[in-house]
Amino acid sequence: MSAAAAVSSTVRVDALTRRFDSFVAVDAISFEIRAGEIWGFLGPNGAGKSTTIRMLCGVLAPTSGSAEVLGYDVGRDPEDVKLRIGYMPQGSSLWDDLSVEEHLRFYCGMFDIYGPGEKRAVDRWMERLDLKKRRSQLAGTLSGGYRKRLALACTLLHDPKMIFLDEPTSGVDPLSRREFWDIIVGLAEEGTTVLVTTHYLDEAEHCNELALIYGGKIIARGTPENLKHAPGGGETIEIVSEHNVAILDAVESLPFVRSAGLYGSALHITVAHKEDAAQLKAAVSRLGISIASLEPVTPSLEDVFADLVRTP
Ligand SMILES: Nc1ncnc2c1ncn2[C@@H]1O[C@H](COP(=O)(O)OP(=O)(O)OP(=O)(O)O)[C@@H](O)[C@H]1O
Ligand SMILES: [Mg+2]
Repeated sequence: MSAAAAVSSTVRVDALTRRFDSFVAVDAISFEIRAGEIWGFLGPNGAGKSTTIRMLCGVLAPTSGSAEVLGYDVGRDPEDVKLRIGYMPQGSSLWDDLSVEEHLRFYCGMFDIYGPGEKRAVDRWMERLDLKKRRSQLAGTLSGGYRKRLALACTLLHDPKMIFLDEPTSGVDPLSRREFWDIIVGLAEEGTTVLVTTHYLDEAEHCNELALIYGGKIIARGTPENLKHAPGGGETIEIVSEHNVAILDAVESLPFVRSAGLYGSALHITVAHKEDAAQLKAAVSRLGISIASLEPVTPSLEDVFADLVRTP
């Protein structure tokens, strides 16, 4: 192991860029992830999340810029990186006609874990991720939640200090998602550093740090709490009414409205300045539509991201 591998910052990214021909998928992004953090990477489809992760996992070469993972340079030493991290790619990494146990043994082989070490690793992670009862079941017959558990177990067999989870809960029911997050939080508490992407913003609340990527660039960063306070100095107003859609249609093009959308059974509207709230109230009352309430609220992460993506 190189001397650099002893650093406490687990990921260090500097102006990392990836082009596909003339298209810039990841555009000079820079960030750091500290050891033991759960670092959430958010952004719309095609924003550049998976491309970034693939570079950090040593499976896709950067076009320019650099990144160090666990002290290894992903461009110079991709094989060192691959051996030390866990990577759960987006989509399936499983074979339908291999059993749970066969998967785990196969992945042990990839990480050179054989003999008693293999049995220990397989038993340990089957136990921990509640896969023991299903050890002989073919992956193709597992429920969505258990497929994800198996894919996660396959990334953990060699006890990586850093794991990359690319949309690990997509297509998983809410209860299984919560259980999956209990596992992720438990791993982080034991010191594993986690980079995770998700489109479920409720899950982003579990992260210590968030970064929002849009068009290949990181456009916002911070803790979930920091990001929710005063997006760009504006204010988010919640309106409760039986006529949300009519109100939304009427207000979303007003010049002082930065973003507007349905939020559960209410409507959330972010205005550019605190003072605009009075104008919004007047505009809504001119519609002559009955409303149950209209008041400022702490924005949700959804409000903040809608606001940032519409007015970068
Ligand atoms: N091998 C490739 N060749 C050409 N373009 C690519 C390639 N891989 C990714 N892209 C493009 O790069 C952009 C970023 O893709 P990426 O998969 O990183 O997005 P993402 O943020 O992970 O999106 P999603 O949320 O849909 O998974 C997209 O426009 C995609 O089409
Ligand atoms: Mg992706």
